[in-house]
Amino acid sequence: ALPNRVKIIDVGPRDGLQNEKQPVPAAIKVELVHRLQAAGLKDIEVTSFVSPKWVPQMGDNAEVMAGIQRQSGVRYSVLTPNMKGFEAAVLSKPDEIVVFGAASEAFSQKNINCSIAESIERFRPVVQAAVAQGIAVRGAISCAVGCPYEGEIAPERVELVARLMADIGVQHVGVADTIGVGTPSKVQRALEVTLKHYDIDHVSGHYHDTYGMALANTLASLEMGIWNYDTSVAGLGGCPYAKGATGNVATEDVVYMLHGMGIETGIDLDKLIDAGKFISDFLERKPHSRAANALLTK
Ligand code: HMG
Ligand code: MG
Repeated sequence: ALPNRVKIIDVGPRDGLQNEKQPVPAAIKVELVHRLQAAGLKDIEVTSFVSPKWVPQMGDNAEVMAGIQRQSGVRYSVLTPNMKGFEAAVLSKPDEIVVFGAASEAFSQKNINCSIAESIERFRPVVQAAVAQGIAVRGAISCAVGCPYEGEIAPERVELVARLMADIGVQHVGVADTIGVGTPSKVQRALEVTLKHYDIDHVSGHYHDTYGMALANTLASLEMGIWNYDTSVAGLGGCPYAKGATGNVATEDVVYMLHGMGIETGIDLDKLIDAGKFISDFLERKPHSRAANALLTK
């Protein structure tokens, strides 16, 4: 049955901007977060505490976190790949941290410079420390349907990572189609195996839109009862270690679809479009959102 309400995490400030070549000033990132919360977003993935040599765009993580005027009821999350990242992140008082692994060995090596097994050992103390400090813990499973280096990924490999994440105490996992190659039935299979280890309230969909499938994949996930999604305002983004992959499905498009289906999000579409327009203007391009462009020219 379809859920009657959906929770959206806007990952635009992090997943969306991490791949931008031109430096985006911290003040612009902070303003984007402010506009997203003004639009009613209750979950915002702000930044990542990764190596600035690997991802220079996220090098201002602490400055961005410090610049946000926090709104009560909004959850601010950050990526933490290891204890070094966690220790730095904690000083910024995130509400939630994200450990990110992959269902593909090759992608794990390229993205976080270690094997899947090693990544779990790096995440273990991070999860323990976060839980001890009352910080929520989410996990991401990259390449859950396909990998830029290994091609198609079997559901069993997604299941293995979901099981390993559950074993170390990760509370919620996102099934990520990193390069946007998934189609509805493939995405459903990746979700089904994840649901063997997590209940429906603790699994989210994270779909990049490279092949234009992300909205279809979202609908297929809704039909399974999945009600948590990561989306990116103005469809910003891409992963530096997944060449050619585009951003996540645009938040505006998902909100337009959900509201049209009578599913609540708590998000004001007009204000959301303003947020997307703000960052797209800064980047000197049109929003990668069909709904935003349609409504902006109406
Ligand atoms: P490493 O080289 O294996 O780590 O990197 P190391 O422990 O060997 O340390 C090497 C150097 O990095 C040292 O510095 C450390 O201090 C430093 P040096 O002595 O050379 O000056 N270092 C760090 N600095 C800052 N923060 C840290 C940190 N850790 C070590 N946390 C590491 C491992 C994971 C850090 C590295 O590979 C990295 O930063 N990778 C970038 C990963 C990334 O941000 N990818 C994009 C986000 S994931 C994504 O987009 C997918 C997702 O959206 C889901 C989907 O769509 O699939 C989530
Ligand atoms: Mg992503």
